[in-house]
Amino acid sequence: MTLQIELNGVNKYYGAFHALKNIDLAIKKGSFVALVGPSGCGKSTLLRSLAGLEKISAGELKIAGDLMTNVPPRKRDVAMVFQSYALYPHMTVEENLTYSLRIRGINKSEARKAAEDVATTTGLMPLLKRYPRELSGGQRQRVAMSRAIIRNPKAFLFDEPLSNLDASLRVHMRKEIRLLHDRLKATSVYVTHDQIEAMTMADHVVVMRDGVIEQQGHPLALYDKPANRFVAGFIGSPAMNFIPAQVSADGAQLHLAFGERRETFGLTTHLEPSRKLLVGLRPENLSLVPVGEGDFDIVIALVESTGSSTYVTTITEPELTIVVSGGRAMRSGDRMGLKIDPMSVHLFDLDSGRRLPSTF
Ligand SMILES: Nc1ncnc2c1ncn2[C@@H]1O[C@H](COP(=O)(O)OP(=O)(O)O)[C@@H](O)[C@H]1O
Ligand SMILES: [Mg+2]
Repeated sequence: MTLQIELNGVNKYYGAFHALKNIDLAIKKGSFVALVGPSGCGKSTLLRSLAGLEKISAGELKIAGDLMTNVPPRKRDVAMVFQSYALYPHMTVEENLTYSLRIRGINKSEARKAAEDVATTTGLMPLLKRYPRELSGGQRQRVAMSRAIIRNPKAFLFDEPLSNLDASLRVHMRKEIRLLHDRLKATSVYVTHDQIEAMTMADHVVVMRDGVIEQQGHPLALYDKPANRFVAGFIGSPAMNFIPAQVSADGAQLHLAFGERRETFGLTTHLEPSRKLLVGLRPENLSLVPVGEGDFDIVIALVESTGSSTYVTTITEPELTIVVSGGRAMRSGDRMGLKIDPMSVHLFDLDSGRRLPSTF
């Protein structure tokens, strides 16, 4: 396994503000890594540090095995693709593509040949003579990517490249980027605040918050076994529900207070007696059954149907979201039974938020 990018104990301060806290990250050659997290968590700072646009305050950063400490951005051989495309408006598509080659002294015919090769891969051949203003958002995005590809960089760095596009184009472009990545056998680091984008595009997802990596791994590993409450609530859509609960005095059971009902569930592994927890339940792992046949009864507050599935919100404290397939007959005001799938219960410590090694 070759590592293309390695970060060990990377820290970044902006003055007194600690923007990156002990970041350890190993990115395999050929992998597609997504950095995801709420706005301000340090994603762009991390990406810009890879590109050399920010100087890290402590730690070690390697690209293709070489320490980058004193290597300026233009010598790092990585390509940034931004949300704003940053195309030159007064240049045609072809000139935008060949600019970086021309300033490196590559002659005109060779540069044209390279532009045509890339344009064939990215479907830009018919557009080479156009100006950026004559292109759609998706086409501009493709030019920005092609301009990165033509340099044959050691890694592609994307900073929220799709946030300016409308929803359907975004879905289309995310497939296009992923397919291009596979075809080029590239190494890509992709920043997004959109967990769906991260989950669907990447083979390794890094979840950040407040400058810290909360968890990293395969997207489905984060979904199946979130390490803490934050990751549990961040990954998955609609978001996981959380219900407060308390371990029994003997540590073998869990008392769950929900609405007027208190239910007790046996724990698969004993937990610290009387410990306060949060039970995490994904909306897609809850089902609605006739009244009295579930673990709890609920009243429906809101029904939102997408046609294929229905999102149900309950009148309870805390409020729950349930996703059912079909569900067209459900109405607000209906009283129903709520059934919990014991195989899919997540338990988190109330104070630390950490995942606990037990279930129902
Ligand atoms: N040049 C800067 N000077 C001071 N603070 C900055 C600078 N750039 C970013 N920050 C701060 O660092 C934090 C992380 O920013 P950023 O990496 O842009 O977050 P993200 O990309 O995840 O939204 C934010 O709190 C931001 O305000
Ligand atoms: Mg950012």
